[in-house]
Amino acid sequence: MIHISSEDSRDIFTLETKSTGYVFQVTKYGHLEHIYYGSKLTHYDLDGLCRKRKVVIGSSIVYHPDDPLYCLDMFPLEWSGIGRGDYRFSPAEIKMPDGSFVSDFIYKNHKIHEGCVPSDKLPTAYKGESGVKTLEILLEDNCTQVELSLLYTVFEESNVISRRVILTNHNPSPLTIRRLMSMCVDLPNQNFRMITFDGGWIKETHRHDHPLRHGMVVNSSTTGGSSNRHNPGFLLASSDSSENQGDVYGFNLIYSGNHIGCAQLSDRQLVRICLGINPHCFEWTLRQGESFETPEAVMTYSASGFNGMSQNFHNFINHHIIRGEWKGKERPVLINNWEAHFFKFNQRKLLRLARRAKKLGVELFVLDDGWFGKRNNDHAGLGDYTVNRKKLPQGLNHFSKRLKKLGLAFGLWFEPEMVNPDSDLFRNHPEYAVTLPGRESTLGRNQLVLDLCNPKVRDYIVTSVSQILDDADISYVKWDMNRHISEAFSPCLENQGEFFHRYILGLYDILTRIFGPRPHILLESCSSGGNRFDLGLLCYSPQIWASDDTDPVERLNIVSGLSYLYPLSTIGAHVSEVPHQQTLRETPLSTRFNVSCFGCLGYEMDLKYLSPVEKKEIKEQIAFYKQHRKTFQYGTFSRIETGKANKVQWQCLYQDKSKAVTGFFQTQSTASEAPDLLRIIGLNPLRRYDIRTKPQRLFIKRFGGLVKHILPIELNPNGLILRLVNRHYALPDCVEHYKVGGDTLEKGIFLNDQFMGSYYNPQTRLLGDFGSNLYVIESEVQQ
Ligand code: GLA
Repeated sequence: MIHISSEDSRDIFTLETKSTGYVFQVTKYGHLEHIYYGSKLTHYDLDGLCRKRKVVIGSSIVYHPDDPLYCLDMFPLEWSGIGRGDYRFSPAEIKMPDGSFVSDFIYKNHKIHEGCVPSDKLPTAYKGESGVKTLEILLEDNCTQVELSLLYTVFEESNVISRRVILTNHNPSPLTIRRLMSMCVDLPNQNFRMITFDGGWIKETHRHDHPLRHGMVVNSSTTGGSSNRHNPGFLLASSDSSENQGDVYGFNLIYSGNHIGCAQLSDRQLVRICLGINPHCFEWTLRQGESFETPEAVMTYSASGFNGMSQNFHNFINHHIIRGEWKGKERPVLINNWEAHFFKFNQRKLLRLARRAKKLGVELFVLDDGWFGKRNNDHAGLGDYTVNRKKLPQGLNHFSKRLKKLGLAFGLWFEPEMVNPDSDLFRNHPEYAVTLPGRESTLGRNQLVLDLCNPKVRDYIVTSVSQILDDADISYVKWDMNRHISEAFSPCLENQGEFFHRYILGLYDILTRIFGPRPHILLESCSSGGNRFDLGLLCYSPQIWASDDTDPVERLNIVSGLSYLYPLSTIGAHVSEVPHQQTLRETPLSTRFNVSCFGCLGYEMDLKYLSPVEKKEIKEQIAFYKQHRKTFQYGTFSRIETGKANKVQWQCLYQDKSKAVTGFFQTQSTASEAPDLLRIIGLNPLRRYDIRTKPQRLFIKRFGGLVKHILPIELNPNGLILRLVNRHYALPDCVEHYKVGGDTLEKGIFLNDQFMGSYYNPQTRLLGDFGSNLYVIESEVQQ
């Protein structure tokens, strides 16, 4: 809802979602003063909510000679320029048509649009089924005829408000943008921490808390993509906030390029938050009549802690970002051949893997890197999308038919934004690659980036990828991008300050042209794992490969981090072989599944080496996942605080609260550990529930010589007999079963004790390092 009222002939704008309110007003000189962002109130009393200005503060710049109390530096603002007395970080650094950097945008008028205001070039959120309205406020710099539209879109059901700006030059002289943020807002400090999600390859989105001190905390990327170093999404949380309580604000950007987000604490205890395109190497000129539009930033607020905030974002992404045929649709269980084969495969090998996968219940076969050109390692072939006939002699169409016969859908890997210098594409068109004349190129993974600023390159990619997609029955694409950009330069651009942004616009153009006409294809984007996990790509690709790290213990950190900002329906998660290729850690098969089922499940291993009993286990895992897939992918997700440093608990609650699934993970065992409490939150307190451990197997190999305690005879733990037994037999893990009220579960129930070195019986929980269990909670049938 957008409500406009007037006091002393000044407009007051109130934007309301289901549970939040956002208020600002036009000041007497036409600036936009931020008044309130928080829980929805019955009365937004300005007398109480506005900051008072009754005393002149020394050394400040007075905006108007008749009004010594009006100093822009003291105001909480919705936007600010440069050179008029506000010395905080400015959302706009523009060389104005008069040649100065001074800008002062003053309210001119406003209008309300039904739904969203789409953009021609950038992906934006869309209306969907629920109530959405947009407020457009037009500001003008009176001295230079430069206009700025601020767009606020209110997504009622998701408690999200988005913001973006459009700058238009009406002056006959050009202007140059050096920085133009998508949003700016000043919030009163609540001892905030800024929370960012950072990392690198195979260790993406680890949560980091930065207490705000005077000055700025900055979250930014300059790699050319949104990056695995700093995800564009970040949070501000009051000092007392935790998973289920306290004030938490969330911010994110619908953009896949260089971003910057910052929180700056001023001496007046105001926190300025800005978010937008990173000004790093950015410069954009507008001539008379031209406009520049920023990507859309999104913000949310919850008074119920981090979980409330993330649930708002999850709802928003599932309903207003993910679009097309895959919106709300359950994702298929896939097998990906990468960790099984790398580049060494042929059709026979692939079909064998496919047959084995089908028997276990897999639905989609994904052929990863290595199927085209001379791509037998990562030194050659990128760019040449013609099938390698040595590996697939009868081509992709034939291969897809064979899969179809087996009852499997077919998915294919591409890395279309890249080229190896050792490729036909590069030999024929060296000018397609991003290189800087006179400087030697730096390579990443032996490859160069293609110049997406060049329309011919975009056409080449669209044509070559589309031909492949139309040649075979392909229902899934993994779109990879495996290096950062260096020597950024395009001969197609007059102003190289446009490069990074034009690259991303080029990417969006390509994705629209390839996948727009093929809406049945499920696109999973990837960038060496989660190097480009952002809302921009989610507008095209309903799921993203979260990390090249498939070790479940690492994934607990990665997926926990991602879950603050993105729903599980968007997170690709695979079960792989041990020892894990990234960490050499050995984890139980049960834990690999128990972690991966919180996301879009896949397997990425050579099934040939599985023992009969492991196959049984996987078959049961997939059947279990399919049974609860909707809850895992679209249920209400919460991170549960366990009070123990060696535990992680995740939970998904079905919409009508009739059932939930929870994963309880032990990252390391500790000796003689105190009892574990299992909490399930958000159930119906009046109903009774049946809670039961998902049955799973414990492989005998794991217990080494300890098996002597449960066997009547002594056997060599490394001997033939036990190795044989391990292939065919496994111990059932402890299954607990309780009938408990929803309110009791909210408080938590004690689980059986863990193994403590004394003795074992079937009621003992055998977790050890990296052990875990899943529990299914179902409402008892009501009479
Ligand atoms: C990247 C991806 C992997 C795999 C390889 C193939 O590293 O993240 O999943 O597709 O490329 O080369």
